[in-house]
Amino acid sequence: MYWTRKHVMVCTASHCNQKGAMDVVGRLRLEVIRKGLDAEILVNNCGTIDLCDCGPNMVVYPDNVIYNGVTVKDIPEIMEHLKGGPVVERLVLAADSEAELQRRGFYAEAVAFEGGQDPEATKALASSHALADTWVDEQLRRGFMARKPDAVTGEDRILVTKKARVRYTL
Ligand code: FES
Repeated sequence: MYWTRKHVMVCTASHCNQKGAMDVVGRLRLEVIRKGLDAEILVNNCGTIDLCDCGPNMVVYPDNVIYNGVTVKDIPEIMEHLKGGPVVERLVLAADSEAELQRRGFYAEAVAFEGGQDPEATKALASSHALADTWVDEQLRRGFMARKPDAVTGEDRILVTKKARVRYTL
């Protein structure tokens, strides 16, 4: 039923899906039904909300809250929010979230390197923004950075892609 008190949109597009979004949306729907709240809380899956590097993501309306990196384990706390409790601050993604500022800071510096950086320099830059090597690897897998051979030396360079430029408005 659409005329609900809260509406939750869970992204199940490819990147979020690869990280378990279908399990999240399935479990959330089940919990809403189990608690008899399905007339009050509508849970839908949706396409990308363009925050693909930090999913699974969901948006809660009318609160206009975005939760990122959601797992099935987070559902009890999210249910408390949906029932009228506090927002789950540790999962909130906002333009001024600490993690968002770290990622944006990294990309703002990385994009300035014409022709990219060597992989170790990229990881060092990430580390200076408190981002782990595994984060760099994931960004590469998700297309926010790309590995290309240098035209002259043939050595690997890491470049910021258009996808990241759009995501971080660079
Ligand atoms: S795949 Fe979920 S935000 Fe893009």
